Amino acid sequence: MTTQIQARDLSKRFERHTRRAGMVGAMRGLFDRASETVTAVDAVSFDVARGEIVGYIGPNGAGKSTTIKMLTGVLTPSSGEATVAGFTPWSERRKLAQQIGVVFGQRTQLWWDLPLIESLELLQHVYRVPEQRFRENFTMAAELLELGSFLNTPVRQLSLGQRMRGDLAAALLHDPQVLYLDEPTIGLDLVAKTNIREFLAHLNREAGVTILLTTHDLADIERLCKRIIVIDHGHIVHDGDLARLRDKIATERTMTVDFDDPPTLDDQLETRGMRLLDQTGQRVRVAFERSRLTAPDVLTALTEYGSIRDMSIEEPSIESIIQHIYKA
Ligand SMILES: Nc1ncnc2c1ncn2[C@@H]1O[C@H](COP(=O)(O)OP(=O)(O)OP(=O)(O)O)[C@@H](O)[C@H]1O
Ligand SMILES: [Mg+2]
Repeated sequence: MTTQIQARDLSKRFERHTRRAGMVGAMRGLFDRASETVTAVDAVSFDVARGEIVGYIGPNGAGKSTTIKMLTGVLTPSSGEATVAGFTPWSERRKLAQQIGVVFGQRTQLWWDLPLIESLELLQHVYRVPEQRFRENFTMAAELLELGSFLNTPVRQLSLGQRMRGDLAAALLHDPQVLYLDEPTIGLDLVAKTNIREFLAHLNREAGVTILLTTHDLADIERLCKRIIVIDHGHIVHDGDLARLRDKIATERTMTVDFDDPPTLDDQLETRGMRLLDQTGQRVRVAFERSRLTAPDVLTALTEYGSIRDMSIEEPSIESIIQHIYKA
């Protein structure tokens, strides 16, 4: 297993100027500016193997974008080390640029005034992509991302979803081994999100591209990432397999049952290992431990309160799992 991204005790501190309130008299103006140090990323360490897709998640301001900027070489860390595709990002930025693709959902690397196709051709020259490779990569991206209808439109006239697809194509022209995506689906509609997710899955599967993905859309994670790294206030608070995490944290399932008539429930429910979540008219929701009861057990127990018309079971959502980690 080859390590593609390695971060060791990576930290980034920023100086932030603040205004102090409440100073009086002659002191004002002399002392009303102060600076404080913000530790955006605090001794972060992790390894990402070739061909992995890792979700890098955490609340606003947690340090995700700052980490990615250090790993692309845009920012130099205050301390710590990193290697990406064999290079130290901030001191070998140009060499690294040939090995990585970067998409920041909030920014574009395309030229606003040029038609998309010309932006892509310009990038071909910037990255010195041989004609044959360019044609192949361009054709694949144009087909899978359905770029055809807006290739000749100036970038500034593209919709957000179109621009994002253009940016993705642009990030891949030079066959990068590693792809960083900072909120690639932000602001997109469901169809566009799905399209981009499927494209990324394809890229990872077919070309073995290693992907580090930041997102607030947990459906991105659900679809793409087997492993998540959770960062909060600059610290990594979790790093591991998503399925195992779900088994460990989410031990409860929920069943929703519709009775023919509003049932009268009693404390026998609790005794049998169920927890009443709510009841509105004919509809009852109960929670139960996966390790203790099966769904048929629960259904059988509920049948004693009346005849049942319909039922459904919900597995714990990824939201509830992430919430659990944030709280802890
Ligand atoms: N250039 C900068 N100067 C000063 N502070 C900064 C700078 N860039 C980031 N920060 C601070 O560092 C912290 C981490 O910011 P960062 O952008 O990495 O968060 P994030 O996890 O990407 O958040 P979001 O989910 O909102 O994108 C924040 O407190 C932010 O204000
Ligand atoms: Mg960010």
